[in-house]
Amino acid sequence: MKFFIDTANLTQIREAQTLGILDGVTTNPSLMAKEGITGTENIKNHYKAICDIVEGDVSAEVIGTTYEEMIKEGEELAALHPQIVVKLPMIKDGVKACKYFSDNGIKTNVTLVFSAGQALLAAKAGATYVSPFIGRLDDISTDGLHLISEIRKVYDNYNFQTEILAASVRHTMHINNCAKIGADVMTGPLSAIEGLLKHPLTDIGLEKFLADYKKGN
Ligand code: G3P
Repeated sequence: MKFFIDTANLTQIREAQTLGILDGVTTNPSLMAKEGITGTENIKNHYKAICDIVEGDVSAEVIGTTYEEMIKEGEELAALHPQIVVKLPMIKDGVKACKYFSDNGIKTNVTLVFSAGQALLAAKAGATYVSPFIGRLDDISTDGLHLISEIRKVYDNYNFQTEILAASVRHTMHINNCAKIGADVMTGPLSAIEGLLKHPLTDIGLEKFLADYKKGN
């Protein structure tokens, strides 16, 4: 499973890159705003800065909601750097724009996906990635992981090449379960990624190894 970090924070992106396990980055307008990045030029420069840190795909989300706006904006974003993936909302014009970019060799990430039917449409439009938001489904007492299983089944039935990018990941169990189900990618915060490192028996074991070493030296 590929690991993407879901943030626009350059320090955290560098930290994840240093760990040596990072395959890419996802951002969205809320994450950009959280870092205080505003204005078209600043946002574009920030995407370029992210691409300079990581080697993999970097999702950059369009703000426009009409087909024409999404095409114009997506083409500008894609021109910024070869690593840019144009992130499009799961709305009618977003699906049309996805098909356009797919036909023109530009990678896409269809976001705000909350049903298997939406994921099926995104795949048929040639999406590179589809982003089901599991945490937000959990938030409304609906099983987000079940959606990942459903999409996995649908894509395997028809051998769709669209990668399932489990998004709105909040904690380590989301990551573990996405891996068991067979999500192709997960995107989450650095805290969830680093949470995978932790086990009390690892800490106790290491402490004992070091104490025993000191006894003999
Ligand atoms: O990748 C989508 C993600 O940013 C949404 O996460 O935690 O705001 O639901 P969250």
